[in-house]
Amino acid sequence: MATPDVLKAFRAMVNLEVMAVRIYRGQRWRLGRSEIAAEALAKAIAIEERHERDLASRRQELGGSPSMLSPFYALAGWLIGFAPSLLGQRTALKTGIWVEERAVKDYQRLLDRVPFDDESRRLVQQNQEDEREHIRMWQESLAKLGQRST
Ligand SMILES: [Fe+2]
Ligand SMILES: [Fe+2]
Repeated sequence: MATPDVLKAFRAMVNLEVMAVRIYRGQRWRLGRSEIAAEALAKAIAIEERHERDLASRRQELGGSPSMLSPFYALAGWLIGFAPSLLGQRTALKTGIWVEERAVKDYQRLLDRVPFDDESRRLVQQNQEDEREHIRMWQESLAKLGQRST
């Protein structure tokens, strides 16, 4: 049985990923048909969905319960994805970078403080590496967008 700290961290991480999935779904209307970002967005959504699934199933294996707050994270995520996209592709991509930088930091904070078992720690580290990759991906998309508009 995992410690309360570990279970609490899993609830927080699932909510983080619930939010990430909705942020990108909220950007779909703006980036979903973009020559530059559509493919990257579809990839990001699939990966965030996998993160959510893997963390939720690990939480269950460890005997943790779901968070009551998930619907609020879902709604907040959708708004964070949708609203800045009104300002254009560039703002949507910058939101992606901001969100992923926060995710990397949140994961690091938990890795530093929470006594995860080895398997859980590996999962968290893999997710964090995927979020770093998302930052690189959005930076690349932003650079391509910049080339096109000049
Ligand atoms: Fe993620
Ligand atoms: Fe990500």
